[in-house]
Amino acid sequence: MADSAGHAVVTGGSSGIGRAVVDRLLRRGLGVTVLDAEPMRETPASARDSALRTFLVDVTDEKAVGEALDEAAEQAGAAPTLLVTSHGIRGGYAPALDLDLASCRRVLDVHVLGTLVAARSLVRCMERVPGDPPPGGSIVTVSSTTAYGGWANQADYGVAKAAVRQLTRNLAVEWAPRGIRVNSIAPGHTLTPMVQEMIDQGYDVAATEARTPLGRLCTPDEMAAAIEFLLMDASFSTGVCMPVDGGWTAVGK
Ligand SMILES: NC(=O)c1ccc[n+]([C@@H]2O[C@H](COP(=O)([O-])OP(=O)(O)OC[C@H]3O[C@@H](n4cnc5c(N)ncnc54)[C@H](O)[C@@H]3O)[C@@H](O)[C@H]2O)c1
Repeated sequence: MADSAGHAVVTGGSSGIGRAVVDRLLRRGLGVTVLDAEPMRETPASARDSALRTFLVDVTDEKAVGEALDEAAEQAGAAPTLLVTSHGIRGGYAPALDLDLASCRRVLDVHVLGTLVAARSLVRCMERVPGDPPPGGSIVTVSSTTAYGGWANQADYGVAKAAVRQLTRNLAVEWAPRGIRVNSIAPGHTLTPMVQEMIDQGYDVAATEARTPLGRLCTPDEMAAAIEFLLMDASFSTGVCMPVDGGWTAVGK
């Protein structure tokens, strides 16, 4: 049976911000397809069996992503027209002189090319289904506050996130004639497994909170709310990158 309220794909939907997006979209009545390299630890309580589909794939593997989306479209009875790219890995957080090049390449590959692969696989899958007019769609990518300004120890991750922001603008311009909006969010520190791992390794949360005007970290659900707005409701926005950072990027010093 077709997903009546729509069909969304969430990369990185097994954990953290992506998982919170999955929960919100399911509550909104959408069918959701998760593409992640790792399985979900627990299935969302709110999920009707048929509303959630999960595929174990690496987003940099274009063939696997394309096959998963085709399979999801068949199971759902409708091609997905919505995409959130919330997959990601940590950078080396090391001085540029010390960064291992193979690790740098993987960070750039996962964040930048993984986002491109997911986005163009969605468009290809959508446009394989005949229809006049074409269905149109909406994509939200995940950049970072590290894409704003210059930072030490960010020659891999920060560069990747700035590239995701630029890729979003480029795709927004290129795909507007197809009726597809492409926007991005730039999260500030959000308490997900990725950040919990940093905290466990000695990351100074108190200093981050002190530098953040709102004085705390973001929750995954607050971040998901901003993503849901751009994905579903911001009908005249395309090509924007919205910081969701408690004021972090607004600080002038
Ligand atoms: N948490 C933060 O403070 C923060 C801040 C800025 C940006 N971000 C970005 O938000 C996104 C989500 O991060 P999070 O904090 O929820 O992290 P997370 O580690 O909780 O979730 C990331 C998910 O991506 C998946 N993933 C990683 N590599 C993949 C690949 N090659 N193919 C498929 N899936 C893959 C992981 O398995 C995991 O489920 C990431 O892009 C991250 O860089 C997070």
